[in-house]
Amino acid sequence: MSEPASSESVNLALEFVRVTEVAAIAAAKWVGRGDGKAADKAAVDAMRTQFNTIDFHGTIVIGEGAKDESHELYVGEELGQGKGPAFDIAVDPLECTDSVANGKPNALAVIATGPKGSLYRAADSYMDKIAVGPEAAGVVDLDASVTDNVKKTANALGKEVSELVVSILDRDRHEGLIREARAAGARVRLFSDGDVAMALGTCLEDTSVDMLLGTGGSAEAVLAAAGIRVLGGEILCRWNPKDEKHVKRLNEAGVTDFSPVFTARDLAAGDDITFTATGVLTGPLARGVLFAADHIMTHSVVMSLEGRSVRFIETKHMPAH
Ligand code: FBP
Repeated sequence: MSEPASSESVNLALEFVRVTEVAAIAAAKWVGRGDGKAADKAAVDAMRTQFNTIDFHGTIVIGEGAKDESHELYVGEELGQGKGPAFDIAVDPLECTDSVANGKPNALAVIATGPKGSLYRAADSYMDKIAVGPEAAGVVDLDASVTDNVKKTANALGKEVSELVVSILDRDRHEGLIREARAAGARVRLFSDGDVAMALGTCLEDTSVDMLLGTGGSAEAVLAAAGIRVLGGEILCRWNPKDEKHVKRLNEAGVTDFSPVFTARDLAAGDDITFTATGVLTGPLARGVLFAADHIMTHSVVMSLEGRSVRFIETKHMPAH
């Protein structure tokens, strides 16, 4: 095997994990307090401050909204000390705001990076998604029936259909999908929030998720695509705007044709993609933040496409002397 490549982003990997760690800790202090907005703001503030300590030049392409909607981490905001190569950055300082408000699982602080122009500048809307791990990457099709996708994925994984676990966001809009997956013979695992972790869970051996199906956020699609590219799976997505407001927003962003299917490579292009996440509340990707009497533990995953590395980092944060 060749030596791992030493790209700029690989060198910045430890800096990026500090960014998601501080955001996760800040959000975790709000777990169960019923105030998702405060949790989100805490994560955003911490993430932005930490990003600005790094010797790099980043531009937010997926963030907390347009400049006029958000003061921090808005699309187009420049981050870092302004030195070195230019990066696109996609952020979700707190993926699963409601989970944190209500103490439910699966919340993450998450970022993805790539060279300038590599990450798809997805306006905030919904996308239909199907995600699977490496073995089934070539067999799924967003236009095929649920039954077809379930059968082909089970076959690719060497499983019986009855052993296949399909994760679906627990939403009314997915009633039909849930019925179809069950009728096809698969096991359906409903989850309350967090399709980034569930999408990546399909690529990890120690999770019980084989496929993610359903409609979720477009920002989450780009973030998941970055991680899935490193892990060798696939996510296929297509715009499915929720309402007229979404249609207008997409049109204003220049998207008028909602029919194209995006692959992971379309959403996170090029060979120098990174994905970094720290768990806030435990899910398939990472354990949540643990507060002990004299320290805080965080659990992160740091993935880099160049060098194809996946690092699981457990950090003990202790107070200064
Ligand atoms: P937030 O971080 O914005 O709360 O997103 C959580 C989430 O579950 C995503 O993982 C998912 O893509 C999206 O919400 C689905 O949207 P909705 O909650 O509107 O169905």
